[in-house]
Amino acid sequence: MKNAELLTAPIGLFDSGVGGTTIWKEINALMPNENTLFLADNKNAPYGEKTKEEIIALCDANTQFLLNHNAKIIVVACNTGTTNAIAYLRDKYKQVPFIGIEPAIKPAGLQSITKKIGVLATRRTLTSDLFAKTSEHLKQEEKIEIIEQVGEGLVDLIEAGQMESAKMTALLQKYLQPMVAEGIDYLVLGCTHYPYLLPQIQRLIPTSIKVIDSGYAVARQTRNILAQYHLLNEKQDHVATHKWVTNGNLEILKQFAEYKDEKKHSIEVLNFDRV
Ligand code: DGL
Repeated sequence: MKNAELLTAPIGLFDSGVGGTTIWKEINALMPNENTLFLADNKNAPYGEKTKEEIIALCDANTQFLLNHNAKIIVVACNTGTTNAIAYLRDKYKQVPFIGIEPAIKPAGLQSITKKIGVLATRRTLTSDLFAKTSEHLKQEEKIEIIEQVGEGLVDLIEAGQMESAKMTALLQKYLQPMVAEGIDYLVLGCTHYPYLLPQIQRLIPTSIKVIDSGYAVARQTRNILAQYHLLNEKQDHVATHKWVTNGNLEILKQFAEYKDEKKHSIEVLNFDRV
């Protein structure tokens, strides 16, 4: 690709499903000029209960799809995908920069007063080597107690459009109550689907507990890397184009294109097919 084409090439993002839209929204807010292509692999969600090998294969196929559509950078908008597959992807596709997302336990741990933090994430994120490395460091060096909780079932309910259901409230209560009882002062949302549960979560925990995720940090890092590679699209008269593609339920993904979004983005939501 020529340089001018590279600047207007899309930022490629993928996730197992609708969770990646929380990252898309952070990226779009920070870089409204950039064209984007977001792939939601809803058909294969949730990734969190799959094996590492299965997650790598799916992330590889997602990356190939985005590269075939000229993505200039790949944002792995999925903690499970990042913690299990990003090393493999970086090694295989050296021609493009990758941005990943991991649970924000480090900033939470360093700011915690009680020295006790909670993290809600998928099983495969919490059992990954990358997560073990970061959490070991915090435990050993900073003496932080980390209470880990697998958010089993949460992604399925979000994918089914049941964010406000009684079932969701019951699950969240079950997962959050023990952390609250332990005296955490930070709760880390370690899955890109979970920011959509924030209103529910805040109703269930004391206001003294701060809830954080890595969305904004990922957007900032994406902008930094694009700038470093001279790939930022800074043309002011340019109207950005956005495509979200899914191999699952189009109507559900469309709801997230509008969900609590004050700005009027024109996002084209389309189906795609892939194994
Ligand atoms: N949204 C993803 C994450 O950040 C994956 C959830 C899943 O598919 O289990 O981990």
